[in-house]
Amino acid sequence: MQQRCLAARRAGQTIAFVPTMGYLHEGHLSLLRSGRERGELLILSIFVNPTQFGPNEDLASYPRDLERDLAVAAEAGVDLVFLPTPEIMYPPHYATYVTVEGVTEGLCGANRPGHFRGVTTVVCKLFNIVQPDVALFGQKDFQQLAVIRRMTSDLNLPVEIVGLPIIREADGLAMSSRNVYLSARERQQALALSDALHLASTAVQQGEMNVQALLALATRRIEQEPLAVIDYIEIRDALTLQPLQKIDQAGAEAVLLLAVKFGKTRLLDNHYLTQPF
Ligand code: PAJ
Repeated sequence: MQQRCLAARRAGQTIAFVPTMGYLHEGHLSLLRSGRERGELLILSIFVNPTQFGPNEDLASYPRDLERDLAVAAEAGVDLVFLPTPEIMYPPHYATYVTVEGVTEGLCGANRPGHFRGVTTVVCKLFNIVQPDVALFGQKDFQQLAVIRRMTSDLNLPVEIVGLPIIREADGLAMSSRNVYLSARERQQALALSDALHLASTAVQQGEMNVQALLALATRRIEQEPLAVIDYIEIRDALTLQPLQKIDQAGAEAVLLLAVKFGKTRLLDNHYLTQPF
């Protein structure tokens, strides 16, 4: 892979790169479509990265369907699919990790220790292998995108990071490879996430600027669902990810971020409060 990417670069081709863990859905496809427009060579990686999973998380059961993913990739015009194994990425005696401070603290960083260290390590390695000009990520994983932007800037990685909007099911649920874990009841109740974001952003459009009131509104909506267990509901500055005291439409963009568990499945969603849902 590295040789082919180097050859493409030497030939002056722009490389667009979409890193994923596979089990591709419309969210991944939106990244690939944008990548197709931005790069002469479009590269997709599929790698269920063990270092970003905690010991009690779903590494072994993470959904996989390589045959289907390869068909979807071909359909989307992907030129090269990189399918490393854990042994290739982390050979014996592997000992180097990339740690980003600040933006990794709180939110998903609080309840998933080591998660972002695994993400930044693998993304940094993938960038070095693929050497892309541009890499595309989804805003669905809002904190992950912020962490990758921070790493890329701090380490002077010569890659343009593009963040793209959340793709949702027709009823509002944010697409995720993990949605297949949901039972029918959980799937129905999971609509509370997008509903809570909708309620809060509508309240902001109507003039509610009080962070506590908006958090209470979102929390009440999630708590209506008996199977929902809130991991976090927070309002943060979209650029710095620092907690916000009040919504100020003239200043920082406020984003409402949610993580809610249904049984073993942890769902994420978020929305800019200063934009209509
Ligand atoms: P994965 O969950 O497969 O997601 C790959 C990319 O697709 C990420 O940038 C993610 O934000 C984006 N994505 C997922 N669901 C989306 C949706 N509904 N709308 C828009 N984009 C969506 O995120 C990872 O893999 C891994 O952590 C990775 C970055 C590949 C490192 O291992």
